[in-house]
Amino acid sequence: MNAIAIDGPAASGKSTVGFQVGRSLDFVFFDTGVMYRAVAWAILEQGISSADSVSVGRVAGELPISVSAPRRDESDGRQATIQVGELDITWSIRSSQVDSIVSVVAANSQVRQELSRKQRLIGLKHGSGAGGKSGVVMAGRDIGTVVLPEAPLKIYLEAPLEERSRRRYREITERGKAADLSTVLDDMRLRDQVDSERAVAPLRPAADAHRIQTQGITVQEVVGRILALAADVLGAGPASTGDKDFPLEGSQGIQ
Ligand code: CDP
Repeated sequence: MNAIAIDGPAASGKSTVGFQVGRSLDFVFFDTGVMYRAVAWAILEQGISSADSVSVGRVAGELPISVSAPRRDESDGRQATIQVGELDITWSIRSSQVDSIVSVVAANSQVRQELSRKQRLIGLKHGSGAGGKSGVVMAGRDIGTVVLPEAPLKIYLEAPLEERSRRRYREITERGKAADLSTVLDDMRLRDQVDSERAVAPLRPAADAHRIQTQGITVQEVVGRILALAADVLGAGPASTGDKDFPLEGSQGIQ
């Protein structure tokens, strides 16, 4: 199986690094966090409290989420297009309201059961090459431990909270949104705590994960280390096919 699991806390670099590794190897890159964010977005839209675990679980089971590669005209910096039905929610799921409830939503056991089952199917399909790419890079919190424990290469990215908060602050302000660094830091600390302390699939490195400290080294260096490990463990080298448009989950999306 050609699968690379990348886990780590908020803003540790999983999606930036994972996307580039995927592109270099001609692997699908799938960021599982968008699915938890989509459920959090949906319950806000429907006026459901994150504490109403039965309703939140039901939403996770019913929500028609789809994830696909951006079309050529969607050149606004997105890595993927996230939709619920026909509605494009790619940027709505990055709101501070979603940030503030997503970890509580993700601690719901029904939500985890629904989403990690779908993620595993996506991982197995693309990891076997059945999706038209050579493999899969999956990013999240529990990919190496729960979603794809058999992934031959597992990475755990780490960086101090202060550094991760600065990164997230930069990302938000570069999108033209207002942010306050100390609020970003407080929110992230809380989210990390909920993610690490939840009963089901808590954030933690798999025993066989390669831990990479990302503070003070460039994205290119992190990507380079992972590519070296991929060459070693998977025998995977840089792709010659270049950038192609491809549906991550076929034209129907993931549901
Ligand atoms: O981008 P950032 O690292 O801030 O977060 P994300 O990867 O988009 O994930 C948002 C939230 O979804 C996390 O704080 C977790 O609560 C949850 N999540 C999870 O529980 N398991 C995953 N595999 C991915 C995300």
